[in-house]
Amino acid sequence: MSKKILVDVNIFQDVLSNREGAYAGAEILNLIKKKELEGWVSANTYGILFYLQRKVNSEEKARKYVSQILNDFVIIPTRKRLIQHALESDSPDFEDNIQIESAAQFTMDAIITRNKKDFENSRVPAYTPEEYLENVFGSHQDTKSQSLTVPFLDLKAQLKDVYNDVDDEITKIISNTAFVMGKSVAEFERAFGSIHNSKYCYGVSTGTAGNHMVLWALGVGPGDEVIIPDNTFIATAWGATLCGAKPVFVDCHTASYNIDPSKVEAAITEKTKAIVAVHLYGQAADVGVISEELMVNGFELKEKGVFVHKDSGQTIYLVEDCAQAHIGEHKGTRVGGLGIASSFSFYPGKNLGAYGEGGAVMTDSEELAKKFKMIRDHGAEQKYYHQIYGHNYRMEGIQGAVLGVKLKHLEDWTNGRRRVAAKYKELLKDVEQIKLPKEMDYAKHVYHLFVIQVNSELGIVNGSKLVNSEEGIVKSARRDELQKYLNENGIATGLHYPVPLHLQPCFEHLGYKKGDFPVSEELAEQGLSLPMYAELTDEQIGYVCEKVKEFFKK
Ligand SMILES: Cc1ncc(COP(=O)(O)O)c(C=O)c1O
Repeated sequence: MSKKILVDVNIFQDVLSNREGAYAGAEILNLIKKKELEGWVSANTYGILFYLQRKVNSEEKARKYVSQILNDFVIIPTRKRLIQHALESDSPDFEDNIQIESAAQFTMDAIITRNKKDFENSRVPAYTPEEYLENVFGSHQDTKSQSLTVPFLDLKAQLKDVYNDVDDEITKIISNTAFVMGKSVAEFERAFGSIHNSKYCYGVSTGTAGNHMVLWALGVGPGDEVIIPDNTFIATAWGATLCGAKPVFVDCHTASYNIDPSKVEAAITEKTKAIVAVHLYGQAADVGVISEELMVNGFELKEKGVFVHKDSGQTIYLVEDCAQAHIGEHKGTRVGGLGIASSFSFYPGKNLGAYGEGGAVMTDSEELAKKFKMIRDHGAEQKYYHQIYGHNYRMEGIQGAVLGVKLKHLEDWTNGRRRVAAKYKELLKDVEQIKLPKEMDYAKHVYHLFVIQVNSELGIVNGSKLVNSEEGIVKSARRDELQKYLNENGIATGLHYPVPLHLQPCFEHLGYKKGDFPVSEELAEQGLSLPMYAELTDEQIGYVCEKVKEFFKK
């Protein structure tokens, strides 16, 4: 995790005026430029700096100096409450109080200043540049394992890339009061649809709403069956149940963990109306083989994602749940355009996350697009004239604005996730007790999650007890022990998902039982998601891998 530091105005002043001994300050600014440190400043800094520069330089030079440093820093706005706190503070210097409050507001690791005594009241520790470089930054680089913590996901690590733009855009929404839909949503829809090469894209309230809308617009209803993978988040199934249809589960593939295409055929009946390909963990499902399976079973491809049986006329739609796979690819084609329609989620923890709830639906079909627009907005094309049944599934203006800013970073963040995955794979490749996620040859994985599988073995392994479940299936306790061990060492992990859909109490009435889907059941017992986000450092990844190896050596 790169350190977040608030740089006091006197550091800039010293560096810009070449003050004697300013080399350490210059080095700090340089590390910020190289992104080895996160540089933050209080907005006030610019006014003061400009004023001070103006005393010794021309207006043009002062502007140049100030604008030079603008781009490398995140600026903390000086808002009313911050000013109030600064005014109420016991310390005499108002400007320093603003900086003290700013540093505390965004939980900085340090304040860098020439005059440490001005920051005696600060909750965030203050250092001179020399001290920071010698004692803190250097030692941070040398820190070994013990003191590290690795969160499962760290959304704060993204703030440096987006905070000021997001803040500007949210302020715009507040000032023009476009709280629901509006320009920010329309612009985001255009941009998001375009990077997925989709003709029509609509922002909606959640990914779950998207799952529902896709099937609803296709006319799925009571009496229909919808095939979905057993290994997915439950929201995939809500798409079908909210339409009154029956979800029919299919086991997952041993390597991709997505729906096993070879098992789809057995799940098809004359009631099957749709198949939902979920691109789980960030990897595209094998839609190519699903299509082939349909074709060998007498279905013909009428248009993209629409299969019609040549004798019975039965239609099966292939749709996608892309909640975990923004800009993922199947054979060079981006997800979202592989079936007749698709849905996305922008839940904050997703690869592209809103500052609240959000989702999108996509299609190339004009007819479906029209339905999406109406369903999202109470079944109406024109306000108060309701042609069809609908819902309120609209996206909020603030979410559209935030997503528009964040979308510009998605490619970089995705590359970051791929870097983290490659590093994990390299460092863990020789650990025979775990199975690493495999990037299938047809897919470009975007690593929403990095799920390893802890192999179960019979007998007592490294002190781990093997537990016999009620039905006599042997279950390994090692995954749980590994999770506990990592947790004790400051590493947070996740389970995706601990209970497969067919064993969820809410689906008891469907009559599934333990043993029906062995691959997904095994994954539920053995799968462990390691920390995954673009900003994970090599040091953190190394630490996680070291602890995993240590566990198996115990
Ligand atoms: C596979 C899958 N589908 C659907 C959803 C639902 O998205 P949302 O949380 O935005 O409703 C999620 C989100 O967790 C998901 O992971």
